[in-house]
Amino acid sequence: MKILAYGVRDDERPYFKAWQTAHPEVTVSLTPAILDEHSVDEAAGCDGISILQTDPVGPAVFERLVKENVRSVSSRIVGTDAMALDTAKKLGIKVTNVPAYSPAAIAEFTVSQLLQLLRNTRRFEAKIHAQDFRWAPDVSQELNQQIVGVIGTGRIGRAAIQIYRGFGAKVVAYDVYHNPELEKEGIYVDSLADLYQASTVITLHAPATKDDFHMLDQDAFAQMNDGVWIVNAGRGTLIDSQALITALDSGKVAGAALDTYEKELPIFNHDLRGQQIDDPTFNNLFARENVLMTPHIAFYTNVAVKNMVTVSLDHNLSLIQTGASEDQVI
Ligand code: COI
Repeated sequence: MKILAYGVRDDERPYFKAWQTAHPEVTVSLTPAILDEHSVDEAAGCDGISILQTDPVGPAVFERLVKENVRSVSSRIVGTDAMALDTAKKLGIKVTNVPAYSPAAIAEFTVSQLLQLLRNTRRFEAKIHAQDFRWAPDVSQELNQQIVGVIGTGRIGRAAIQIYRGFGAKVVAYDVYHNPELEKEGIYVDSLADLYQASTVITLHAPATKDDFHMLDQDAFAQMNDGVWIVNAGRGTLIDSQALITALDSGKVAGAALDTYEKELPIFNHDLRGQQIDDPTFNNLFARENVLMTPHIAFYTNVAVKNMVTVSLDHNLSLIQTGASEDQVI
């Protein structure tokens, strides 16, 4: 049996090696290339593939995979929004993801970013670097005083809720699907409008779908409290970046922690040292002291990386051997 893993980074290699040692009946080959129309040929002769990317996997790539007789595709990430799943389904391709490689990794990161926003860490770092050791005027806010509005109460949202509560913050939540435990606690508000009105912090943990593109747009920001804090470690497309800029300019939004950005693909996880970034919207946000932009790293812990590799390979093997797997998306 042969599995090809695409988009492999060096820090993933030890986990691939360990899985390979435990499964001598399978040959696992690794390539740093992401799956696209150029690299798809490398899958010839394989029984299944593992991928890790937010770059699109379009209909043409799935059609080529079927031509190569590859019908088992296991993603090492949670999000499936970049894949043309409708086409894949029609072609009889089976796809798995890893929905719980480490909800805590993402939840902990979002809370730490919010704390940095509230404590003006970036402003103090700049001042301290310039040997300006004065306190004023950068008085901070406390997390225990916040009302955190959580959008999306899947695994990551629920892990974040636990941590926010640990800090003494009040939490309200919105999701189309209600978690029974949280429901009993009366945490849910009825609408996004109610959540916007109730919250001093809004944190996004919803998957990207065609319905929630630019969920936070001009109209949504207008309904929020003045001086609201925004945290996004979901997909960048959940926020209309131009509307966010306007809301930051007016003071409606006090600050934002953005681990994702709607046009991040040419920027995040690339070495752009010394280069001009040709994206005025990104540059506008990036230059602000009250906006913390990080390159989609909320997931990036040793626990998560190990689980992404190991679980995805387990799933791929199961698809190949039995035609079905846990965490099967289609
Ligand atoms: C996901 O798991 O969906 C992520 O956003 C992680 C990243 C490696 C793409």
